[in-house]
Amino acid sequence: MKSEISKTDQISPDQSVICILGKDEIPESLRLSKTEKEYALKRITAKEEYIIINSYYKHTYLVRIKEDLNVHKTREELRKTAFNLRKLIKSNNHPELVITSAKAYKGAIEDFTEGLILSFYSFDKYKTREENGDKKKYPSKLILQGDIDDSDIKWLIDLSDAVYLARDLINEPVNHLNATVLSHEIKKIGQAAGFTVEVLNKGKIEALKMGGLIAVNKGSVDPPVFCVLEWHPEKCINKKPLVLAGKGIVYDTGGLNIKTGDHMDNMKADMAGAATVAGVLYTVAKSGIPVHTIGLIPATDNRPGGNAYAQGDIITMHNKMTVEVGNTDAEGRLILADAISYASNYSPELIIDIATLTGSAAMTFGNQAIAVMGNADKKYFELLEECGYEVHERIAQLPFWEEYGELIKSDIADIKNVGGREAGVITAGKFLENFTKFPLIHMDIAGTGSLKKDDYYRLKDGPGSGLRLLSTFLKKFAANHTKFN
Ligand code: BES
Ligand code: ZN
Ligand code: ZN
Repeated sequence: MKSEISKTDQISPDQSVICILGKDEIPESLRLSKTEKEYALKRITAKEEYIIINSYYKHTYLVRIKEDLNVHKTREELRKTAFNLRKLIKSNNHPELVITSAKAYKGAIEDFTEGLILSFYSFDKYKTREENGDKKKYPSKLILQGDIDDSDIKWLIDLSDAVYLARDLINEPVNHLNATVLSHEIKKIGQAAGFTVEVLNKGKIEALKMGGLIAVNKGSVDPPVFCVLEWHPEKCINKKPLVLAGKGIVYDTGGLNIKTGDHMDNMKADMAGAATVAGVLYTVAKSGIPVHTIGLIPATDNRPGGNAYAQGDIITMHNKMTVEVGNTDAEGRLILADAISYASNYSPELIIDIATLTGSAAMTFGNQAIAVMGNADKKYFELLEECGYEVHERIAQLPFWEEYGELIKSDIADIKNVGGREAGVITAGKFLENFTKFPLIHMDIAGTGSLKKDDYYRLKDGPGSGLRLLSTFLKKFAANHTKFN
């Protein structure tokens, strides 16, 4: 369960408090004794990251802002400090905790709270014994005090709820979450947030001739699904929708080109793109962002089974193009290609796809950047880049030159699903470009979407990569719409 977030005007004397300090001074409102103050000031002058004062009936945590000329870095340091404090705060078992600030920048409370909430997450539903889990060991209530707009609190709540939902989906193993279960979960998320979800079943997918999704699903005993999520508020700023497509491979064994060594590790997270899309739709719908947004989620597992698709197969895709299967482990682009092709039905202003697509992206950027490329106007990339710095989900843009497209030519079909080892992250994007004439941005989260260890509040396994980024992108897209049209 997530901590509840609310707002207050007053701090009562017995409440434990976290105070973010913009200056090396201690505000009177914290009601510290003279000796406590002296102790704290000494620590502050020593530039300690945080100071804890354990009074008889409460704790006071003082958090120094690390000034930096770069505002983004200052904000990120505060989120990271929240992560560093999480264990201590949990161990003190506060039923509620006030978060306030003194002479800090506007937004500091929200930034710290965001870092803290995202750090408190744990995937503990399968822990049956209380002592094994850290169940309930965090404040059930976080109470914010200070100059905070109600709309900012609402955004923080909606966004962090979405990250929790996405993480739960990513962390759920495939024996509990196959494609059909995923579609049911997405339906629930739609109901909670107020967007519609239509689930196309296997029959419909076959009728639509989604050859990529059908091929990848052939080795599976479970049927595929294709989810269509739609948020269409009455008043919206865009005539043509934005389409988000998320890779929903609920487990990637590689198929007949099976993954060897430990390459199958955490492949339950190969639907992180799908979880992100569902989470973004949740945030924009819950927050009432006036942007007509469609989410497309093709989902299946990728397994070697009796009738599994094979290397050398030629398949006909939803857009009628033929694809030579050079490797059954390059399955993500096959299911996404059908989704991107299906997006044409909406004449979208822009298509953004997000996927744990290539090991090459992970090798290039590690967990520090989302690989981004495409043919969309640069104003979209600029906004995405700016949002990336703001929420610290940074993007790194790669070239998208047509020469890269030549690497995936096929001798016997229109195109091949692999291009060889060179520029693997780019050829995957070029492959997808073939399936639409509408502007495309492709985001590869293979490096950021599933982590072996915590990267601060971007917690290990499924951190929910790209969710805060794309939600913020849509919010700013709405706010800047005059500039965009
Ligand atoms: N799901 C993987 C990509 C991946 C790798 C995600 C590591 C997260 C961590 C994808 O389906 C895949 O297997 N890609 C292959 C493509 C290759 C066969 C062209 C890869 O990157 O090795
Ligand atoms: Zn694969
Ligand atoms: Zn995959």
